[in-house]
This record gives sequence, structure tokens and C-alpha cells, in this order.
Amino acid sequence: MRFDVFTLFPTMFASPLEESILGRARERGIVFIYLHNIRDYAAGRHHITDDAPYGGGGGMVMKPEPIFAAVETVLGNEEDVPIILLSPQGRLFTHEVAVDLARHRRVALLCGRYEGVDERVCQHLVTDEISIGDYVLSGGELAAMVIIDAVTRLLPGTLGDPAATFEDSHARGLLEYPHYTRPPVFRGWDVPEVLRSGDHAAVTQWRREQVLRRTWERRPDLLARAPLTAQDREFLAQLEKCSAEH
Ligand code: ADE
Repeated sequence: MRFDVFTLFPTMFASPLEESILGRARERGIVFIYLHNIRDYAAGRHHITDDAPYGGGGGMVMKPEPIFAAVETVLGNEEDVPIILLSPQGRLFTHEVAVDLARHRRVALLCGRYEGVDERVCQHLVTDEISIGDYVLSGGELAAMVIIDAVTRLLPGTLGDPAATFEDSHARGLLEYPHYTRPPVFRGWDVPEVLRSGDHAAVTQWRREQVLRRTWERRPDLLARAPLTAQDREFLAQLEKCSAEH
């Protein structure tokens, strides 16, 4: 899969894209990330990429010409490449959106800065606007990295264990169960007995109950949409009953 990232700050991407899982996925040729500096496409000796907003008000707005020039030059006549603007006005990034993006051969990510980008970019160039949460970042760069990371994890061959993404929090609409490793006792805190019992069926059941309990406690909104079995519902009903009694 190929990502083309359009940004005024390409050096921001260096370390996160080199380390660990992303770094290995690039080395293995699973994902290719091309960084394009929008400033290189700005005309004039000063390569100006922003200007004051029409109508007044504070802040600066990213000019349309360098952005159109950069994206059109790089994408050429390629069709069916989503051109995604990272902005707090976009639709919310979720696991489902990541799965959908992972199906594409190529994706373009456009990082906004300053007060925003000229609206003509949103209306006539980008095909999608994505936000990574209800807060405002200084620019779209960190959001683009979040998207690249979350999508790359889903590509076949990126993770050693293909089951890992399936077990991840959110992959099945619920939070993940807790993990433990050696030592069995740390500062007097035990690893739950069931995990050391060697009883696989008991471990599976314990993990499922933890998944349900955590989601119920921390993200009850997810439960409403999650695929649940009759047994899951029974367990959740029990939790409700216990909490009502206490
Ligand atoms: N740029 C600024 N804030 C953002 C956000 N929350 N998501 C995506 N891009 C952004």
C-alpha cells in the first residue's frame, strides 16, 4: 500500500515512520510512504503557502494554489485515490474507517495547518475529511501518522501474529482483556490464578468476561453496537444486577 503525505513539515514524520512495526513494514515493502513538501509547489521566490483570511479575523489560511499543484503533480491521472484532509471538521476516525482505508492500493493524506485550508481545497480537491478526535491539534501531521500507523497494522504481513489485529481492542467492537507476563507475583500483586491454570477453556471464558466487564465499565456506548452472544448478554445482565444492588 502507498501513502502520499502532503505537508509543510515533512521532517515531523521521520522518527515515527522508522521505528518498530511501521519501520519493519516499510523495510518489507508492505507499505510505502512518500512525503511531499507543499512549500516546494508554491510559486515565487518566497514560496508563500499561507495568507490572511478574507473577511478579517486572526490567523492565516493555507493558500489553494500550492496544495492543488502538489496533489495534482504527484497523483497525476491516477484515479480512485482517496484524497483525505486531516481536520477537526472531518468524520471521526475509527477502526472501521481504518479497515476501509486498508483496502485501498494508494491513499493521499493532506495535512492542514494554521487556521485551516482555503475552502476551495475542501470542495474541489479532497474526497474525504477525517478527524482523529474532538480536540484541536496544531496541524494534521500527527493525525496523518495516527492513520498511517492504524492502517498499516491491518495490512497482511505487518504483524508477526495475524491473529493479533483480530484480538485488538475495537477490532470486534469491544475493548481488550488485560494482559500479564512473568513474574507471577510482582510487589505482592498476583497474576490471576486462572491464567496460570493451563485450563484453556477457563482462560477463554475469563478473557471474554474481562472484555465485557471492561467495555461495560469504560465504554458502555460500544456495547450497544457490538455483536454479543446470548451468554455475553447473560453475563452483562448479571453485572447490571450486581451494580444495582451495591
Ligand atoms: N488537525 C487539527 N486537529 C485535528 C484533529 N483532531 N484531527 C485531524 N486533524 C486535525
